[in-house]
Amino acid sequence: MRDKLQLPRHVAIIMDGNGRWAKARKKPRFFGHKQGVKTVRRTVEYAAKIGIDSLTLYAFSSENWRRPEAEVKLLFELLSLSISEQLADLHKNNIKLNVIGDQAALPVRLTKKITRATELTQNNTGMQLNIALNYGAHWEIANAAKELALACVNGEMDANTIDENTLEAHLSTTGQAELDLMIRTGGEHRLSNFLLWQAAYAELYFTDTYWPDFNEAQLDDALAWFATRKRRFGKIDEQITARTG
Ligand code: IPE
Ligand code: IPE
Ligand code: MG
Repeated sequence: MRDKLQLPRHVAIIMDGNGRWAKARKKPRFFGHKQGVKTVRRTVEYAAKIGIDSLTLYAFSSENWRRPEAEVKLLFELLSLSISEQLADLHKNNIKLNVIGDQAALPVRLTKKITRATELTQNNTGMQLNIALNYGAHWEIANAAKELALACVNGEMDANTIDENTLEAHLSTTGQAELDLMIRTGGEHRLSNFLLWQAAYAELYFTDTYWPDFNEAQLDDALAWFATRKRRFGKIDEQITARTG
């Protein structure tokens, strides 16, 4: 049995490598995305089963609009289809779905489906599943700043009271456990504009495995690695030992 104390409460995953996975099989990129959806389903089920509180998955970044139009269109269709196919199971597993990112630019059919799905699962008490869709950390932080500025202009807030906590309250993950572990598949060692604020003290885990090949055992590897990390949060070793010992 895994020691619950060592289990991260909030895990984020940059699901990268679908295209290269497909290319290695001489298939079109879309084939990799489709396979990637299967990995999403398994990962979500597994994470909920082992007791992760929040799982945040990077599905489409603000920068992914720069891809060929046909790929962007196919990705949205695939997302829409996956919501339809997986919603009943998510609900059955008591998972609460939340979509983060700028939904204003998304196709209306997709946003309608997202609204229905989030409404259906909003009272669920199990794992919180955040799907980052048209998400970029720069957008998220700028948006929080805009909301704070508007609150000040409208007289609801005094600008002098703005601090880390008030800004954090306007981020898309507010109220959820602090991000503990960030995983990136596909071999790149970068964050690609994902959860930059939340990652301040997250442990960063990189694997060369392409996302379609990622599985429960590999998530276990990441969790086992996480459990070996000494999280000091600015303190020194002795203070950490004193607290837990
Ligand atoms: C990640 O896989 C999925 C999305 C960004 C939607 P990629 O599509 O980036 O796959 P690679 O990096 O080209 O292999
Ligand atoms: C990051 O992957 C975005 C998602 C996984 C949705 P990318 O493949 O878009 O990242 P870069 O552009 O290589 O940094
Ligand atoms: Mg990529």
